[in-house]
Amino acid sequence: MRTIVVDHPLVAHKLTVLRDEATPSPTFRLLVDELVTLLAYEATRDVRVVDREIRTPVAETRGAHLASPPPIVVPILRAGLGMLDGMSRLLPKAEVGFLGMVRNEITLEATTYANRLPDDLTGRQCFLIDPMLATGGTLIMAIEYLLAKGADDVTAVCLLAAPEGLAAVEEAVGHRAEVTVVVAAVDDHLDEHGYIVPGLGDAGDRLYG
Ligand code: PRP
Repeated sequence: MRTIVVDHPLVAHKLTVLRDEATPSPTFRLLVDELVTLLAYEATRDVRVVDREIRTPVAETRGAHLASPPPIVVPILRAGLGMLDGMSRLLPKAEVGFLGMVRNEITLEATTYANRLPDDLTGRQCFLIDPMLATGGTLIMAIEYLLAKGADDVTAVCLLAAPEGLAAVEEAVGHRAEVTVVVAAVDDHLDEHGYIVPGLGDAGDRLYG
């Protein structure tokens, strides 16, 4: 598994405004969208392309073209939906599948309540999107699900991660070279309620109330 922490001043600036509790929902949604675009640039560095012949107005040449079948973008509902537009803008030909997962606020265990994905993901490149990687339970379950369905390349794009959650993901799927986690920042720790500290609060609530 590869972990990429995107070190960029614009990412840091937008994240700081996102963290601020005074930032209202409309601005929060806009910032999430902008941040995803910046993270997606890094996350799609190994997106599969093929070499294709084209003709410019001047000459014949060859160039990279998104391979077929295209990647699948998988937002983890609900908060992951806030990242879908930004990701789709960069990968307009990607298919979109959905995983509805919720974490029990007492036990912190994740459960899946909705699943709208192709049954067979053999050979597919998948991009999981979810703003928060806290205990890591949600992401581990989602990554294991995609790998079990045959996906051979899974990149998770998150805004914030707790070191405890990253370590849990590493322990669960770290041996799989086809897994990558891209994150804008790794925070200090998880509190006793499973919240990332300093974090940004509950991303789902701040996006959708
Ligand atoms: C949040 C977040 C992740 C999960 C992270 O979702 O968006 O999916 O918690 O927690 P974990 O790493 O400890 O598993 P939540 O369950 O609050 O659902 P929501 O997106 O519908 O608000």
